[in-house]
Amino acid sequence: MPDHYKKFDLHDKVAVITGASEGIGRDIAIGLAEAGCDIIICSRREEKLLEVKEIAEKNGRKAEICVIDVQSVSEIEKLKAFIKATTGKVDILINNAGCAVTKPAWDVSESDWDTMVDTGFKGLFFCCQAVGSIMREQKYGKIINLGSTFSKSIVPGRSVYGGIKAGIDHLTEALAMEWAPHGIRVNTLAPTAVSTPSRQVTLQGPILEKVLSRIPLGRLATPEDLLGAVIYLSSEASDFVTGQTLFVDGGWVAAS
Ligand SMILES: NC(=O)c1ccc[n+]([C@@H]2O[C@H](COP(=O)([O-])OP(=O)(O)OC[C@H]3O[C@@H](n4cnc5c(N)ncnc54)[C@H](OP(=O)(O)O)[C@@H]3O)[C@@H](O)[C@H]2O)c1
Repeated sequence: MPDHYKKFDLHDKVAVITGASEGIGRDIAIGLAEAGCDIIICSRREEKLLEVKEIAEKNGRKAEICVIDVQSVSEIEKLKAFIKATTGKVDILINNAGCAVTKPAWDVSESDWDTMVDTGFKGLFFCCQAVGSIMREQKYGKIINLGSTFSKSIVPGRSVYGGIKAGIDHLTEALAMEWAPHGIRVNTLAPTAVSTPSRQVTLQGPILEKVLSRIPLGRLATPEDLLGAVIYLSSEASDFVTGQTLFVDGGWVAAS
């Protein structure tokens, strides 16, 4: 194998994945384990994380479960302590946990706001801070934040969600700049609509048709579509890439 391919190798890296119990996070966790990573998987539902752990272990990788609610900073501190006590190091953080409420802006409640912002923005920031502080000690690390095409395009019913995702693009740039001296690379991976169990409920009929009409490549994304970008951004192959938002969107943003 030519040397430059070796830079994509993830064997024996440790990856922390939030929101790994289902959907995109689950598939990223399994994909990273298949690519050679040991994984620490987090979310609120232990029974679902146990399924992911079993699959990763069948691939010969170590998998640890850390049950946390990312809305709480004290729970995120528990994750930091857990990493130190188990693997003792972390190379990759996939900040995937998120929550989407689809409602006209007039109808968004305080509770909708708090759940979306505390999970997808506050939780994401404090996971960056807690896990990033271990990376700072190591002088190396890769943080990948889950963004969305909705950061760059307007979809009715997604005002708050889109605002959070636009904020994530900005936060990624800011952290990339502040943390570059510590060897920490921070990037956003921004998919278009991905066919996950939670989205299959909403992506039907005329809504599905409308979404498909905005994707030049003519189909929804699958979680597998994201894995190449995840592996790239997690690996040494992307060591000179930081502060970027990589759209994996079938052309959505280009067409918007
Ligand atoms: N699917 C799409 O079309 C799409 C498109 C663009 C971007 N995204 C982004 O990709 C990410 C994943 O989306 P998805 O569709 O896979 O979502 P999903 O199927 O709804 O899964 C969300 C995951 O986040 C976890 N989670 C939710 N609240 C949490 C909390 N407070 N603390 C810890 N974990 C929590 C859930 O686990 P527990 O319930 O076990 O806690 C679950 O594992 C999100 O950031 C989303 O915004 C999705």
